[in-house]
Amino acid sequence: MSRVGTGARVSRAKLTADDHTDQAYNAEDPALGRVATIQRAIPSSVFGGLALAGGLALANFLRFLLAAPPEDSCALQATSPDARPPIAGSGAYVLVTGGAGFLGAHVARECLALGMRVTVVDDLSGGSARNLPAGAAFVRGDLRDAAFVDGLFRNRTTATRFKYVYHLAAYAAEGLSHFIRSYNYRTNLVASALLVNAAIKFGVRCFVFTSSIAVYGTGQLPLSERAALAPEDPYGIGKLAMELDLAAAGRQFGLEWVVFRPHNVYGPLQNAADRYRNVLGIFLSQLRAAAPLTIFGDGAQTRSFTYVDDVAQPIARAPLHPQLYRQTFNVGADEQTTLNELAALLSQAWGAPLHVTRLPPRNEVRHARATHHKLRCFLGAHAVAPTPLREGIARTVAWALEQLPPTTEDVARGFGAVEVLRGLPPSWRDAGLREVPEYVGARVRNVV
Ligand SMILES: NC(=O)c1ccc[n+]([C@@H]2O[C@H](COP(=O)([O-])OP(=O)(O)OC[C@H]3O[C@@H](n4cnc5c(N)ncnc54)[C@H](O)[C@@H]3O)[C@@H](O)[C@H]2O)c1
Repeated sequence: MSRVGTGARVSRAKLTADDHTDQAYNAEDPALGRVATIQRAIPSSVFGGLALAGGLALANFLRFLLAAPPEDSCALQATSPDARPPIAGSGAYVLVTGGAGFLGAHVARECLALGMRVTVVDDLSGGSARNLPAGAAFVRGDLRDAAFVDGLFRNRTTATRFKYVYHLAAYAAEGLSHFIRSYNYRTNLVASALLVNAAIKFGVRCFVFTSSIAVYGTGQLPLSERAALAPEDPYGIGKLAMELDLAAAGRQFGLEWVVFRPHNVYGPLQNAADRYRNVLGIFLSQLRAAAPLTIFGDGAQTRSFTYVDDVAQPIARAPLHPQLYRQTFNVGADEQTTLNELAALLSQAWGAPLHVTRLPPRNEVRHARATHHKLRCFLGAHAVAPTPLREGIARTVAWALEQLPPTTEDVARGFGAVEVLRGLPPSWRDAGLREVPEYVGARVRNVV
């Protein structure tokens, strides 16, 4: 008996120390991962002795008992699939920040479909009024302005006060955030803190925040919610700080929250004119201009490109599932795609020959892959089936082909100034780009 007891202790200690390795293995093949986890966790001498004594069946039984649940097991997520019907969203007053932007506009549309009364707030620095869904009220303003944020909430009656806040407004140019540090923190963190203050003061029931897988930093694969949080750039640091701030507000004031960490979202309404953003949008604007697609390095970098509906739906529905409250979820596609494959798929969908210009490799994550078991476990039957990449690309290209071509200025214009010029990649250096102590102005031309 004492040997078995030792085995159990070894197993637990090993599982803690190797937690991440085991996750990686299990995520590849849950069944194999389960056996491998146990084999690595329990000294072979323990099982050898049992087998010699004719206890093979007993050893197998013990292996089963001592096994850690595979990563995709809901037991590991301390939940079981949610079979309960969601809370009705109909009639609830909700605020969607950044709702003139790409993901925010889709979230606003989903909220309207759920019967919610939606107010969108956006300063149109990166979004466009063209994206606003019919039926949403729109308030234009800058969330970095404390008086403006307070007024958004204060000027409402008890009957019309916001029940849920979906906070999507941000500037999400991760690589560029090193060069616009204070702009990043003011837009993505300080503005968020103002909204949390208002949510606390004006009795918001649930605050939904879109963070990012940038909070994990590099060097960990796959990224599960239990991976270490080690952001490496101001964008990821600001997102993580906001996650921690929300948790503190939950503990101190009882504010309910749900955090999502989406990745590589693409689809209709995406801002293809912003060359500091998502590669798929950049490829779209290059296809439109009949220009070669630019790829940094060999193009073997992989990403999991996520169709926007697959992210917008769970975000919009999150407050209706109390089981999700005070939880953080990765959300996105599982399918891995190289940039070379993406370039070929997009060119084909566009009906254009594949032309690629290779640029020198840049300092970026080579492979990014996140796990999504946790959200599937928490949502159970309410989970969204992922859109296959080809289908998502077909819908996105169909949308892009219908759009008016952006002006030359739309495509060419980025930041007129940055806060630090040193080390800025040459492809981001426009003639006349200045270095300023604090970047304040709008960053892309808005087509309203
Ligand atoms: N798109 C992705 O792949 C992705 C991945 C991970 C996380 N996210 C997060 O999702 C959210 C939405 O991203 P998106 O891709 O839709 O970006 P987006 O730029 O299309 O939308 C952001 C919106 O926020 C608005 N905004 C910015 N600063 C503002 C301010 N100070 N006041 C008011 N409005 C302001 C912009 O005008 C824009 O319409 C962001 O928080 C982003 O960090 C996006």
